[in-house]
Amino acid sequence: MTSTHHVPHTTNNAGIPVESDEHSLTVGPDGPILLQDHYLIEKMAQFNRERVPERVVHAKGSGAYGSFQVTNDVSQFTKADLFQPGKTTEMLARFSTVAGEQGSPDTWRDPRGFALKFYTEYGNYDLVGNNTPIFFVRDTIKFQDFIRSQKRQPGSGLRDHDMQWDFWTLSPESAHMVTWLMGDRGIPKTYRHMNGYGSHTYMWINAGGEKFWIKYHFKTDQGIDFLTQEDADRIAGEDADFHRRDLYRAIDTGDAPSWTLYVQVMPFDDAPDYRFNPFDLTKVWPHGDYPLIEVGRMTLDKNPEDYFIHIEQAAFEPSNMVPGIGPSPDKMLLGRLFSYPDTHRYRIGPNYLQLPPNRPHVPVHSYAKDGPMRFDPARVARPYAPNSYGGPAADTERYGDPAGWRTAGEMVREATRPRRDDDDFVQPGTMVRQVLDDAARDRLVNNIAGHLAEDVTKPVLERAFQYWRNVDKNLGDRIVKKFNGG
Ligand code: NDP
Ligand code: HEM
Repeated sequence: MTSTHHVPHTTNNAGIPVESDEHSLTVGPDGPILLQDHYLIEKMAQFNRERVPERVVHAKGSGAYGSFQVTNDVSQFTKADLFQPGKTTEMLARFSTVAGEQGSPDTWRDPRGFALKFYTEYGNYDLVGNNTPIFFVRDTIKFQDFIRSQKRQPGSGLRDHDMQWDFWTLSPESAHMVTWLMGDRGIPKTYRHMNGYGSHTYMWINAGGEKFWIKYHFKTDQGIDFLTQEDADRIAGEDADFHRRDLYRAIDTGDAPSWTLYVQVMPFDDAPDYRFNPFDLTKVWPHGDYPLIEVGRMTLDKNPEDYFIHIEQAAFEPSNMVPGIGPSPDKMLLGRLFSYPDTHRYRIGPNYLQLPPNRPHVPVHSYAKDGPMRFDPARVARPYAPNSYGGPAADTERYGDPAGWRTAGEMVREATRPRRDDDDFVQPGTMVRQVLDDAARDRLVNNIAGHLAEDVTKPVLERAFQYWRNVDKNLGDRIVKKFNGG
């Protein structure tokens, strides 16, 4: 229905034309507002419910649709349909900061989320990684404490460097990630100028049932680039949405960003005797031991039509793994398999998989039914299995081939058996001494000394100095000197 001015009439949510956009229904011009002004009440009620809770972490983010194209034959390692030669798969990506809230500046120093959803012929494959190949802790039971130390003080409501350094220095396994965070890559220039990593070790399984351990590396085709602390601080004031704007504009103007995917592949039987625990999320596999093998390219070329629908309601979950891909004994990954679907049911609702960014691009033959906001019709007439009325039946070939490993033992609360090179400070030390150049090391010293200068109390400070001396004696000494004004 259109008016003479060729704009449609406003309707309420039931499609009924409304009488006024500007005036409530009152008893006389100055009289009380009437309960029967249903449209006014609908407006207020709908407005009060416009938000869903923000993500408990990674609240501020940006995303886009695109595709993943295979460029190399890795079928000897996995039968996963999206990695087969010649294949192109539609996908969604969301990049994010971790600790800040929805409106927080994009250029705060923080790891960046690198969450991918591939709409494969065997359902959704979600690879929920970061722009770092490692993480701060190695056991799920410490994740909640870690995040609380990075968020706000309950009393003051302020973020607090003392909490951050207190947790880090009491958790030496964080040293590799904190070195990374305080270095240049702790503030990428844009989302387009950073790498993404699956971070965990995953399992790949080929068509013959052979298993491999693998790590994913998405290398930016735009080149790595970063912001200095000074530039980032300035931009945080000028444009809190700097990274969101950059991604949106690049795609909008046809400058579609891309990343080349490589994997490191470890033969299944190498794992028990490797010199450190290959499932420890605080460590990388040196390229010299397991070189990068090209797989394909992901290109992001389509902005979301509606940010809330496609990005805010996007629900990534590491538990979405398709045939040919499985988990590993990484204690972080195994915890995450539970956490994400759980938070989605709370944040968006139990039928979140029906929403546009989350719904698979293949028919769903699930026995699930009903629940709030369900709008897909029941998928099977008889909602139970087994049934003799033509209901779906499980793929029994998969039954004989679970993506698992051999395990046995007493129930314990113990760290994994230590190995020769399991030390927490070895890999960050290598990064400082062998990967960074002089200028990058100088910036690292400045960034750490500057960060420690904000409200860190004496005992925590002393531990922090020792932490950095453990990473590298010279680096630690330089940080102390810089901190003391040297
Ligand atoms: P390599 O020399 O083969 O790899 C070093 C890697 O360091 C580079 O490939 C690059 O990763 C990454 N890098 C370069 N500059 C920086 C920076 N400013 N901040 C963080 N990372 C940077 O040696 P190894 O594989 O033996 O690893 C040596 C050390 O390098 C490790 O202890 C780890 O700290 C770091 N590293 C290793 C990675 C790995 O997967 N092996 C990945 C990233 C860092 P990229 O090519 O991914 O950009
Ligand atoms: C988001 C839990 C570790 C990457 C989230 C969310 C939760 C969570 C609850 C919010 C999800 C949402 O509301 O949509 C955990 C737990 C972890 C853990 C319990 C440890 C056991 C990690 C690690 C990585 C990671 C190690 C990267 C390797 C992400 C990303 C997002 C996210 C990228 C944002 C996803 C998006 O863009 O929607 N995490 N996380 N997390 N997490 Fe984790």
